[in-house]
Amino acid sequence: MRSPSPLLLAVFAGLLALLGAVPAARAVVPAPSAAPSTNGAASVPLASRSLPSPMNATNTCASCHATLTDTKLRTPAKEYAHSAHRDDRIGCVGCHHGDPRDPTVGAHAKSMGFEPHPTHVEVPQICGGCHSDAAFIRRLNGRLPVGQAALFTLSLHGKLTAAGDGVAPDCSTCHGKHDIQPPSSPLSPVNRTNVAKLCSGCHADKQKMAGYDIRTDQFEKWKKSVHGQAFAAGNPNAPTCTSCHGAHASTPPDAASVAHACGRCHETEMQLFEQSPHSQGFRRRGLAACVACHSNHDVARASAIMVGTGPDATCMKCHNNDEKPRRVADEISNLLRGARERAADARAAVARATTAGLRVSGAPYSLDQVATAETKVRSVVHTLDPARVQAVVSDIESAADETQRLVQSAERNRRLERRGYYAALGLGALLLLALSLKAMDLDRRRRQGGS
Ligand code: HEC
Ligand code: HEC
Ligand code: HEC
Ligand code: HEC
Ligand code: HEC
Ligand code: HEC
Ligand code: HEC
Ligand code: HEC
Ligand code: HEC
Repeated sequence: MRSPSPLLLAVFAGLLALLGAVPAARAVVPAPSAAPSTNGAASVPLASRSLPSPMNATNTCASCHATLTDTKLRTPAKEYAHSAHRDDRIGCVGCHHGDPRDPTVGAHAKSMGFEPHPTHVEVPQICGGCHSDAAFIRRLNGRLPVGQAALFTLSLHGKLTAAGDGVAPDCSTCHGKHDIQPPSSPLSPVNRTNVAKLCSGCHADKQKMAGYDIRTDQFEKWKKSVHGQAFAAGNPNAPTCTSCHGAHASTPPDAASVAHACGRCHETEMQLFEQSPHSQGFRRRGLAACVACHSNHDVARASAIMVGTGPDATCMKCHNNDEKPRRVADEISNLLRGARERAADARAAVARATTAGLRVSGAPYSLDQVATAETKVRSVVHTLDPARVQAVVSDIESAADETQRLVQSAERNRRLERRGYYAALGLGALLLLALSLKAMDLDRRRRQGGS
C-alpha cells in the first residue's frame, strides 16, 4: 500500500487543528479561579481546554496503555474499554487531555493541556464540562439528561468539594473513574440497588463524619423502616436514599418541600394534607410536613393509635394544651375506634360462620368493601376534618352491617334447613315405629291363626 504524501498529511493535520479549535470557543466550564491545580500540570487552564472534537475518534492513549506492563498504567485502559465512555469520541483525552493522535509518549503534551492526575477539585469541572454541554452529549447519546454538575455545584457535597474538602464526594467518588457504568447497570455504585451502600459508606461512618455536625444513623434507621424493609423485599416503588434526596442535589428536603418529596409516591396523602389546617399551620411554624408525624428515616407503619389524646398519640406531641385540636383528635379517634370495632366484628362473624361450615355467599365482596373504605379512611385522617372522616366511617359501617346481615341470613337458612331435617327425621321415626308395631301385630295374628 502506498503511504499518503507528506503534503496531504500536513493539509489534513491543519484541517483537524481548525476543527479542534471550534469546540474550544464553546467551553462551558467556569474558570476554576479558586482551584489552583496542586500538581502544577495545569499550564493550560481548564476553561480553555477544548472538548474532544468528534474528529478525534482515535485513541492512541488507550492503544498504548493497554500494552503496558505496569498494572497502574494498564488497568485504566482495560476498564475504559468496558465503560460508558468507551466511545473514542470521548476518549482518554476527554478527561486527561493531551494528543490522542500521537502514538508516542509525546501524546502527554503539556501544550495540549495533558492532565495526568485530575484533582478532587477539578473532577466536577472536567465531568461537568461535557455533562453540561447538551449539544456535545446529544451527539453521542440523545437520551442522556444533562445538568448534573449544576445541581451538584449547588449541593453541600459540591460546595465542600469546590472548597477542597477531602471527605465530600466528587463525581468519581460516586461513579468511578475508568469503569464508569450507566446507573441502570448493577455494576454501577449508583445503581438503585447499590445507592444505600454508597451513601452510607460515608454517612454511617462515624470516623469519616466526625468533623461534621451531622448524625450518622440514617442508614440504620432506613434499613429498619417500612421503606427499607419494602426495599429489601424487592418492592420497586420503595424509596432508597436518592428517592428522597435526589442524586446530585443531595440536600435534605426542607420543611417547605418535604411534602413533595414524600408526595411523589404518596400523592393522595399529600393532597389531603394540603387541604388540612396543618398545611398552613406547619408552614407558618417551619414544621416539616409529613416528617413531623412520620419521621424521615425511621418511618414506621402508621396506625390509628397515632390519633387521639392518649399518651402515645402523635397529636399530643404538639397539642397537649390546645382545646380545638384536642377535641378534633378525640372525635376522629372515637370515629376510627368505632369503625375498627364494627369491621372486626364483621370479620369475626364471617370467620365463625366459615368454621361452622357455613358458606356465606356475598361475604367476600362486602368484606372487600369494608377493607377498601378502611384504606380510604387512613388517608382521609390527614384532612383533620371529622365530618370527612365520618363520611368514610359510615361506608365502613354500612359494609360491615351488610356483612353481618349476610351472615345472619345464612345462619337463619341453616336453622330452617336443620328444622326441616329434624321434622323429616321425626316423621320417618314415627313411620318406622308404626310399621314395626304393625308388623308385630301381623306376626302375633299369624302365630295365633297357626296354633
Ligand atoms: C506510547 C505509549 C503511550 C501513549 C501513546 C500514551 N501514554 Fe500515557 N503513559 C505511558 C507510559 C509509559 C507512562 C508512564 C511513564 C510516564 O509517565 O511517561 C504513561 C503515563 C501516563 C499517565 C500518568 C500515570 C501516573 O501515574 O503518573 C497518564 C494519566 C497517562 N499516561 C495518560 C495518557 C493519555 C491520556 C494519553 C493520550 C493522550 C497517553 N497516556 C498516551 C505510555 C503512553
Ligand atoms: C471520565 C474521566 C476519565 C477518563 C475518560 C480517563 N481517565 Fe484516567 N483518570 C481519571 C481520574 C479522575 C484519575 C484520578 C487521578 C488521580 O487520582 O491521580 C485518573 C487517573 C489515571 C491514571 C493514573 C492511575 C493511578 O492509579 O495513579 C492513569 C494511568 C490513567 N488515568 C490513564 C487513563 C487512560 C489510559 C485512559 C483512557 C483509556 C483514561 N485514563 C481515561 C479520569 C479519567
Ligand atoms: C469528554 C466528555 C465527557 C467527559 C469529560 C465525561 N463524560 Fe460522562 N459521558 C459522556 C458521554 C458523551 C456519555 C454518553 C456515552 C454513550 O451513551 O455512548 C457519557 C456517559 C456517562 C455516564 C453514563 C450515563 C448513562 O446513563 O448511560 C455516566 C454515569 C457518566 N458519563 C459520568 C461521568 C463522570 C462521573 C465523569 C467525570 C469523572 C464524566 N462522565 C466525564 C461524555 C463525557
Ligand atoms: C453522591 C453521589 C453522586 C455524585 C457526587 C454524583 N453523582 Fe451522578 N449519579 C448519582 C446517582 C445515584 C445517579 C443515578 C440516577 C438517579 O438516581 O437519579 C447518578 C446519575 C448520573 C448520570 C446519568 C444520567 C442521570 O442524570 O441519571 C450522569 C451523567 C451523572 N450522574 C453525572 C455526574 C456528574 C457529572 C457528577 C459531578 C458533577 C456527578 N454525577 C456526581 C450519584 C452521584
Ligand atoms: C465520600 C463521602 C460521602 C458520600 C459517598 C456521600 N456523602 Fe453526603 N455528605 C458528605 C459530607 C462530608 C457532607 C457534609 C456534612 C455536613 O457538613 O454536615 C454530606 C452531606 C449530606 C447531606 C446534608 C446536606 C445539607 O445540605 O445539609 C445529605 C442530605 C447527604 N449528604 C446525602 C447523601 C446521599 C443521599 C448520598 C448518596 C447518594 C451521599 N450523601 C453520599 C459525604 C458524603
Ligand atoms: C423517605 C425519604 C427519605 C429517605 C428514604 C432517606 N432520607 Fe435522608 N432525610 C429525609 C428528610 C425529610 C430529611 C430532613 C430531615 C428533617 O428535616 O427532619 C433527611 C435528612 C438527611 C440527612 C441530613 C442529616 C439528618 O439526619 O437530618 C442526611 C445526611 C440524610 N438524610 C442521608 C440519608 C441517607 C444516607 C439515606 C439512605 C440510607 C437517606 N437519607 C434516606 C428523607 C429521607
Ligand atoms: C419512592 C416512593 C416513596 C417515597 C418517596 C416515600 N415513600 Fe413512603 N412508602 C412507599 C412504599 C412503596 C410504601 C409501602 C411499603 C409497604 O407497604 O410494604 C411506603 C410506606 C409508607 C408508610 C407506611 C404505610 C402504612 O401502610 O402504614 C408511611 C407512613 C410512609 N410511607 C410515609 C412516607 C413519608 C413520610 C415519606 C417522605 C419523608 C415517604 N413515605 C416517601 C414509597 C415511598
Ligand atoms: C398530624 C400528623 C400527620 C401528618 C402531618 C401526616 N400524617 Fe400520615 N398519617 C397520620 C396518621 C395518624 C395515620 C394513620 C391513620 C390510621 O391508620 O388510621 C397516617 C397514615 C399515613 C399513611 C398510611 C395510610 C395510607 O394512607 O396509606 C401514609 C402513607 C401517610 N400517612 C403518609 C403521609 C404523608 C406523605 C404526609 C405528608 C404529606 C403525611 N402522612 C402527613 C398522621 C400524619
Ligand atoms: C408537629 C406538631 C403537630 C402535630 C404532631 C399535630 N399538630 Fe395539629 N397543628 C399544629 C400546628 C402548628 C397547627 C397550626 C396552629 C396555629 O397555627 O395556630 C395545628 C393545627 C391543628 C388544628 C386546627 C386548629 C384550629 O384552631 O383550627 C387541628 C384541628 C389539629 N391541629 C389537629 C391535630 C391532630 C388531630 C393531630 C394528630 C393526628 C395533630 N394536630 C398533630 C401542629 C401539630
